[in-house]
Parts: sequence; C-alpha cells; structure tokens
Amino acid sequence: MHYLEPLFNPKSVAIVGASHHEGKIGHTVVKNIVESGYKGKIYPVNPKGGEILGLKVYKNILEIEEDIDVAIITVPANVAVNVIDDVAKKAKFIIVITSGFSEVGNIEGEKKLVETAKKHGSRILGPNVFGIYSAKPPINATFGPSKIEKGNIAVVSQSGALGIAMIGRASEENMGLSAMVSIGNKADLTEVEILSYLFQDEYTRVVFLYIEGLENGREFLDIIRKRPPNKSIIVLKAGRSKAGARAVASHTGSLAGSDAVFDAAFRQVGILRADSLEDGLNWVTTVALSPAPKGKNVVIITNGGGLGVIAADACEKYGLHLFDDMEVLKKTFQDVMPEFGSYKNPVDLTGQAGGKEYREALERAFKEDSIHAILALYCDRGDSIEELKEALIEVHKKYRNVKPALYTLFGGEGATSIIQALKREGIPAFSDVEDAVSSLYALYKVNERKDEGELEEIEMDEEKIKEVIENARKERRNKLLSHEAKEILKAVGIDVPEFYLAKSIDDAIEAANKIGYPVVMKVVSEDIIHKTDVGGVVLNIEDEKEVAEAFEAIMENCKRNVPHANIRGIEISKMLPKGIETIVGSTTDASFGKVVMFGLGGIYVEVMKDVTFRVAPVPKKEIRRMIREIESYPLLMGVRGEKRKDIDAIVDTIYRVGLLVDKFKEIVELDINPLIVYEKGAKVVDARMVIKVEK
Ligand code: ACO
Repeated sequence: MHYLEPLFNPKSVAIVGASHHEGKIGHTVVKNIVESGYKGKIYPVNPKGGEILGLKVYKNILEIEEDIDVAIITVPANVAVNVIDDVAKKAKFIIVITSGFSEVGNIEGEKKLVETAKKHGSRILGPNVFGIYSAKPPINATFGPSKIEKGNIAVVSQSGALGIAMIGRASEENMGLSAMVSIGNKADLTEVEILSYLFQDEYTRVVFLYIEGLENGREFLDIIRKRPPNKSIIVLKAGRSKAGARAVASHTGSLAGSDAVFDAAFRQVGILRADSLEDGLNWVTTVALSPAPKGKNVVIITNGGGLGVIAADACEKYGLHLFDDMEVLKKTFQDVMPEFGSYKNPVDLTGQAGGKEYREALERAFKEDSIHAILALYCDRGDSIEELKEALIEVHKKYRNVKPALYTLFGGEGATSIIQALKREGIPAFSDVEDAVSSLYALYKVNERKDEGELEEIEMDEEKIKEVIENARKERRNKLLSHEAKEILKAVGIDVPEFYLAKSIDDAIEAANKIGYPVVMKVVSEDIIHKTDVGGVVLNIEDEKEVAEAFEAIMENCKRNVPHANIRGIEISKMLPKGIETIVGSTTDASFGKVVMFGLGGIYVEVMKDVTFRVAPVPKKEIRRMIREIESYPLLMGVRGEKRKDIDAIVDTIYRVGLLVDKFKEIVELDINPLIVYEKGAKVVDARMVIKVEK
C-alpha cells in the first residue's frame, strides 16, 4: 500500500475550525464532505461544541476517541500554529487550508507547522490550499464547488484559485476526476510525492499538473521517468517570461532563463507541456477519454472541403501523418460518397452527407486496421442534427476502445447541441478544428515513451581537476584563469590544443616553437575579463620575432589600460583554422541543478539566443536530440557545398562536460566559447569556469 493511501482514502476525517455559519470555509468543507457521500467518520472540531449538519462537534481534537487519517485545518493562521501540536498528535495527514504563511512572509509560522507535524510523524499538505478531492472513497474535502464527477483525470494545482475554477470547469465539460489536489505552499508534501501516489492509483489515467516552480526538479524528473506506461502527465507551467536579471559570470548562465531550462528538462523526460489552460484542459480530456493510437495513420472525414483543408494544415503543423494509401482509402470510403466526393484524405463526404453517411463512413474507418486515428469534422448545414447526433454517439460508443476518434462541429446552434451531447457521453468534441488536431497530437505525444539512453564511464584525471580547483581556492578566487579551465577540460578528455603559460619573451618563443606557427597569444589575468578590448590578444603570429613583439605589446597595453591588473603571464596556443564556432556550457539551475547548454557561436548565440539545454549528466543518445533542436542545426549538416561537421565530436564534448559538472559540483558555471567544429574533430579555443569558494 502506498504511504499516501490514508490521505487519498481516509477512514476518518476531522475538520479543525468546522464552522456553525453557512458560507464560511470551515462550514463549506464539512458540507462538501457530507454531500460527496463520504462513508468514513467525520469529526467537526470547534471549541463551541454543538452540532454542524447533524454531526456532533468535538470541543478539542484530543477528545476524539480514535486516531484520524486526515485533519483539515480551517482556523486563522495564528490559531493554526497554536492547535498544530494537538492536531499532529491525532492525525496522520494534516491539510492546512489556512493562508497567511510563507506566501506573505510568515516563514516562522510555516516552519512551526511542519516541524511540529514532523515531531509526531504527521505530514502536511499546504498551507494555503483549498483541500483535496479523491474519487476512491469518494471525498470532497475542499471548499470549492460541491459537485464533482468521478472519472480518471487527476488535477494537481499549485494555485488554489485555479484549482477551484477547474473543478467548476470540469463539471461543465463533463470531465470526470479521480483526484484534485491543491499543493499550495508545498511546505512538506510536494508534487513529487503526490505524483508518486497518483501514478500507482488505479483510478487515475492522466494527471494535469499546474506549477509555477519546482524546488526538487531532479526528483520530479525521476518520478516522471518511472511512471507506468498506462499513466500520462500534462503540465502547465506558468512563467514563460524571462527570469529576472541574475548576477551570472558566464554566457551560459545568462542564457539559462529558468523557463528555458524547464522546457528542456520537460523535453528530456518526455513531458508534454501545455501553453495555455485551454489546451491543457482539451488535452487531458482527450487523453482521459481515448485509447492510445496503435499507429501513425490519421484519417480526416468531413462534409466540407474547407474544414478538411484547415484540419490537414493543422495536422502538418503538429507533425501528424495523414494516411495516404489510396487503395485502402478507395476501398474503405468510395461507396459511402457521391461521385463528386473524394476518398483521398481528407475524405470529403460532401455537403449533402448527413447522419447515414457519417455512420457508414465512421464504421468503415473504425473497422479498417490500417487507420489508427479519426478526425471527424462537420460543417453545420442547419438540418439533420438529431440524426447525425445519434449516428456519431452510437458508432463512437461501439468502437470507443478500438481507436481514438475526435469530433469537430462547426456552425450554429446545431453544432453546439451536438458538441454538448457528445461531451455528455464522454466523447471528445470541439468547436475548433485546431483544438481537435492539437488534442490528437497530445494523445500521440503522451503515449510516446522516451529513451534517453545510458551513461557510459569515461576516464577523468580527478587528481588534476582537484589540484586546479584547490589552487584557485587557496587564492580565494572563484573565476578560473583560461589556462586553468583548459587544464580541467583536458583532464576530462576534451580536445584542448596544446597551450603554455609564458612568463618571459624567452618562454614565449620556446613555447611557440614547440607548438608550431601560427600561434595566438593572450594575456592571463584574473583582473582582465575582456582581453581583446584592452589589447591583450594577438592572433596569427608567424615567427619568433612576432612572438617577441606581441609579448611586449600585450604587456604594455595591459599595464596601461588596466594598471592594477595582476598579470600572470601570457598564454600561447595554436592559431586554429576556420571551422564552425559553437558554444558548449554549463550552469547551475535553481530547480534542476547542473545543466548543460549547446548552441552555435557568434550571432546565433548573441542575437538569436539559439541554444538548447539538458539536465546533466546527459547520455549521448539524448545529446544528439539536444543538438538537433537548435534552429541553426542545418549549418552543422553542411549547406552551400560545405561538408557535414563532426557531430560526434560535439556530442562527446557535451557528454564530458556533463559528467564533469555532475562529478565536481563546485564548478558552478562553465563556458567553452568557442568550440570550433571541423569535418573531423572539435577543438576548444577558449574556456571559462566559475567555482564555488567558501566565504
Ligand atoms: N479549534 C477549532 N475551531 C476553532 C478554534 C480552535 N482552536 N478557534 C476558533 N475556531 C473556530 C471559530 O470559532 C470558527 O467557527 P464559528 O464560525 O462556528 O465561530 C471557525 O473555527 C473558523 O474560525 P474563524 O476565526 O471564524 O476564521 P475564518 O473562517 O474567518 O477564517 C480561514 C479561517 C478561512 C482559514 C482564513 O484564515 C483563511 O486562511 N482564509 C483563506 C483560505 C484560502 O484562501 N486558502 C487558500 C486556498 S486556495 C485559493 O487561493 C482560493
């Protein structure tokens, strides 16, 4: 039995703050529990005693003779903090409806609730929640609408108001719920534990989760990865807008707005993210009501060419495959339509088609095994509504478990009345074609299983990495110098061309001769970040004389432009030939921890912000998907006669960076910028790293 079973299927509930006054939250909760047909024991608690809705009221929770599965607190915040000790002595789970805690800065109060509950081995849902509905007992322990239909959709909402509104909407849309959980401030129980229950709950087919943020992103991803094949999740995450300005020292850090990382993390584990409430509701309803499609072939059946074309366009946009086997289409549909109809997909039954033709065409589409999903469209002609309504409902009910079929009815009153009738029968019906197509897309997506691949071991010179980090820490420096960052990358097996740190002209000449010309020389100083701007970089150095001149020029420029800079020497490395400049980076995200980033350099990253993320470490299979996500990917594949670049070398670099930052958590930010990619190989030109230094 799951440890949250008593929360979702309680044998007894107490309402601490049960009110004698109709309309107050403490009264509504009692009323909803009673009206939901809850069969367990109900204990209203209020110091005034008496009776509420015919139930005996206990003056104190400790007077109740038995231990309680769930206590619901509906007293004001200051009272809640006073009663929590008694409540926790009696109840396994405590739902704190009360507002006025961390959301308004009352951190202490919230901490007291959680710590006291913990002392007695109890768990808290909330505070600042509207309660819980669970279909199993059933129990509606919320102060929202009393009428909730049983079904297989579980809604988990961080926002209380939105959750309450969803109960109303669900009943309007005939959406049946298996559970509705408000998680509010998430002081103790979070979405992760709630999901772990719902994913094993026999009543739940699909979870609709509304969140604004996550603290334990990795646990969240793990629970999603582990969900059984017959459970789906659709997430609406608010906050697509850019994260506020953050003090970051790396390029990757500044590009990793928290929402971009959320998006990528969701893609990584195959979570379908809805952009709007409307999409989310359409999608969960469709998933809840439809079997998984057994293949990719979609057929559109319509009575109007126009609607068919709109649907076909939308299918293309969402990447749905329109079935195009002409022989099968002809065999299946030719007899159902007049001569001027079209059996090509979209199958056009023509404007004269009514209930009879739709019944026949749908029957045939349902029976044909090579058709896997049906989009039935109807332009309301203003007559034959009843006949059509009957036909759609009868045929759909007969085959509803065979394959998914979604209906769009466009027009006036007739269309609306059919949509309502279909919805009442639990059939996915829409007034807009795009909604139907996007819902079918969602149905395909949620039934896909993602295989991210496996991590493989690599050799890493851990001692060297530790030594470089320690040296910087000794100097209380959090930014590594370029040559230090390169040392670390080399130690993890990334292709860093030979480089030396020269302290004198003689050193520099010796190094350049070893490397071979042409070379590049760059100043090394923790006080100089923009080296080129202060004259600290010289490229394309061809011989010993130029090395000596460059050395002197760099020293002079830097001393003049940044007089107090601590100059540690000059880094000499090979001047690399042209290739495609890319950027590989890593940063530390507040929700998911270490993430890796990839993009093309120059304007692609600076202007177009064409970058992509993953939560580290990332298996190579998933890194390939990640690379393909950027808009500028075709450039890597070779355009205008250019040859394909070495994608494997990029994959390998990102892979090693992922393992590095996962192993060495103290590397909080990292940029390889640029990583030049060739037809064969990819080489590091410049690198930056920021480490955590204890203050
Ligand atoms: N033990 C039990 N009952 C008590 C105690 C006690 N120690 N002390 C007082 N009570 C009783 C009160 O006498 C009262 O009962 P009565 O009406 O019969 O007299 C009842 O508990 C409630 O106490 P009130 O002081 O009347 O509190 P009120 O109902 O005004 O407010 C509430 C309590 C609703 C919890 C309020 O503080 C609150 O937080 N409201 C916001 C709730 C909310 O929105 N939560 C988030 C949901 S999601 C969303 O955003 C919609």
